[in-house]
Amino acid sequence: MKIAILPGDGIGTEIVEQAVRVLKVLDLAFESETALVGGAAYEAHGHPLPEGTLKLAQAADAILFGAVGDWKYDKLERALRPEQAILGLRKQLGLFANFRPALCYEQLTHASSLKPELVAGLDILIIRELTGDIYFGQPRGRRTAVDGHFPGAEEAFDTMRYSRPEIERIAHVAFQAARKRSKKVTSVDKANVLETFQFWKDVVTEVHAAHYQDVELQHMYVDNAAMQLVKAPKAFDVVFTGNMFGDILSDEAAMLTGSIGMLPSASLDKNGKGLYEPSHGSAPDIAGKGVANPLATILSAAMMLRYSLNQPAAADRIESAVKAVLSAGLRTPDIWSEGTTKVGTREMGDAVVAAITGKTITTKT
Ligand code: IPM
Ligand code: MG
Repeated sequence: MKIAILPGDGIGTEIVEQAVRVLKVLDLAFESETALVGGAAYEAHGHPLPEGTLKLAQAADAILFGAVGDWKYDKLERALRPEQAILGLRKQLGLFANFRPALCYEQLTHASSLKPELVAGLDILIIRELTGDIYFGQPRGRRTAVDGHFPGAEEAFDTMRYSRPEIERIAHVAFQAARKRSKKVTSVDKANVLETFQFWKDVVTEVHAAHYQDVELQHMYVDNAAMQLVKAPKAFDVVFTGNMFGDILSDEAAMLTGSIGMLPSASLDKNGKGLYEPSHGSAPDIAGKGVANPLATILSAAMMLRYSLNQPAAADRIESAVKAVLSAGLRTPDIWSEGTTKVGTREMGDAVVAAITGKTITTKT
């Protein structure tokens, strides 16, 4: 097994370091190689996704990714900005299926901004299509308007589009994932306004009728879905949608659980090869301070073992260790509350390693 390690920018390096320590202590036979990506790669090689990094990612069995981005690159032309690294990896590697579980740990029920009874036991899975939609649709750009409200004015435009096979393949992923859970899928669209999402709804309905009658399918408009997610999040199980809506709803769902610092994600290709990254970003405001929560990345490493490397027992060990650490009262600042023990990034990593190796976790209080 070969794992490509791409820590990236901001807190990316700190959190990935802890996840790698956790992987090493599991004593699995894997090779790893680290490369620069994002702003760090731009500084060193003049491009956020250098050829060498892309080749490494293509050759590996799985990729562990930290985060990319920093405000200091906002002025660069779009093609050179750090975000292009993750978008490029998704596209070049065909990582069309993005899994973003939102799980509210019992120990963190009170960290949510919603009432505890609304989120206690929350366990939803967002499945986001990741290589199509308005993110990648061509044409796009700037031009002089020839029509519209202000002909002759400067304008910008993007293209929202989905082809039938793109919708079909992600629909299969969503229905199959639902079969392993409570067999309930909510497909989120904007069919009342957008042609692209009327087509989405039609194709999803057809795939469902032809192959997945045992799964319950519900359609919901994206604005209503955003509202229902904060009103009654536990009514959802698998939430399945396109790239743009999935970007927005997955941040919303993440926050229901108390902290985006807890949530892992997987982005898979058609063969199950994947890129694993925390759902949060590079958080340049706290980078280098040793306070970032490494648990989302550590849990992403667990997803990697389960989905791409066929090591479910090792994945279980990581997930149990994370629960043990939370039960012992250890909290990074993002999930800290009265009566728990505040720790930094490295101490959190230490505690997970200790829990895996069977050592006792000591708290300072
Ligand atoms: C995400 C991020 C990315 C996205 C950015 C960094 C390009 O917000 O993974 O959700 O928009 O997909
Ligand atoms: Mg996002």
